Parts: sequence; structure tokens; C-alpha cells
Amino acid sequence: MSASTPFDTGFDVQQVERLFQDRRTIGAFRPECPPDDLVLWALDQFRWAPNHHKTEPWRVRWLGPETKARLVDLNAKLVAASKGEDAAEKKRQSWNRVPGWLFVTCRRSSDPLQDEEDVAACHCAVQNLLLALWARGVGSKWATGAVIRHPEAFEILGIDPAEERPIGLIWYGFPDVVPGQPRQPIEAFLQRLP
Ligand SMILES: Cc1cc2nc3c(=O)[nH]c(=O)nc-3n(C[C@H](O)[C@H](O)[C@H](O)COP(=O)(O)O)c2cc1C
Repeated sequence: MSASTPFDTGFDVQQVERLFQDRRTIGAFRPECPPDDLVLWALDQFRWAPNHHKTEPWRVRWLGPETKARLVDLNAKLVAASKGEDAAEKKRQSWNRVPGWLFVTCRRSSDPLQDEEDVAACHCAVQNLLLALWARGVGSKWATGAVIRHPEAFEILGIDPAEERPIGLIWYGFPDVVPGQPRQPIEAFLQRLP
């Protein structure tokens, strides 16, 4: 990478590269919950995502133990109906082990194009959040299973689905295991045009 450019941000590019490349989706967390001020700092980075027409369409709910327990129950109920009681109990246990819970939604727009771009902005904001958490040693998983669109989840979370669409559950905590994850090389997706 060239050392000097006309506009020098002063960033340590190797550190930035590590942040992008080392972040992984975490499936196994340590039991302790990261401190609230660290999460607030990451949410402060979340809101700097690009957003067309400056709509800042994102909304975040930070779940306490009661709300979390209700979502765990709902998910176990859904899994029991589709896969049986044993699978439901396994899910209940694994969900109960997740220390931190955020729920991200996007405010709906009456303009279909704005609506699409607002969802894109929310996705960018989530990536900011995941990277910010990772920079502070906190792992996360962005989860979008059926439960996030279930009417009972909307009721638990106080979401009016006519006003907001779900973007995802963001689970966070200190990683217990950091998995590997390969990526295709640049040549697999890049096409240079004349
Ligand atoms: C929009 C979106 C939804 C996702 N939903 C889930 C999910 O429901 N469950 C899950 O285990 N991972 C989910 N993931 C995480 C991906 O599985 C993960 O990013 C992918 O395996 C690449 O791994 P990495 O994040 O470690 O690079 C989601 C990621 C995105 C971007």
C-alpha cells in the first residue's frame, strides 16, 4: 500500500485492515456481559452510517432480562412447533447463554425507493456497530431468523410493523471461540471496465 496520499487521515491502515478482516460472527460467548458504556460507544459509531436524504431511519431497542426472556420463550415455542421439544430446549439453552441483546429496526417510508435505501442504510449502521464492538474486544452475531418477523415478537418489543421493519437481532458478548471464515479473492468479484 502506498505510504502517502493527498489527503492523510492519519489512520493506521494496518489496524484498519485488521478490524475489517478479523471481525467474525460469534456463536459462543463468555457468560459475562460487556459494560453498558462500551455498548453505548459502539452505538455512537452505529449512527454515523451513510443514509440517503439524511433520513437516519434506524431504531434500536436494548433488551433487558425480562424482554430477552420473553423472546427466548417465543423462539422456543416456534422451534417446538417446527422441530419438536428437544430442539426447542437446545435453542432455549443456547439463546439463554447470549449475554447482550439489541434489536435493530428501520422506519418505513411511503416512498418505495427511499424504503429500500433506508434498509440499506440500516445494514451499513449494523456493520458500523459490529466493527465498533469488535474493536473493543466484543463479538457479535447478526441474527435474522423467523422470530424477528413474528407478530408476537413485535408485541414483546413494542414494534408497530406498519411503522418499522425488523433489521435483526444483534447478540453481543466477549467471544469464547472465534471461528475462521474464508473469503473469495478480489478477482472473484471485481471486473474492471475500460
Ligand atoms: C443480513 C444478515 C443476516 C444474518 N443472519 C444470520 C442468522 O440469522 N444466523 C446466523 O447464524 N448468522 C447470520 N448472519 C451472519 C452470517 O452468517 C455471517 O456474517 C457469515 O457466515 C460470514 O461470517 P463472518 O460474519 O464471520 O464473516 C447474518 C448476516 C447478515 C449480513
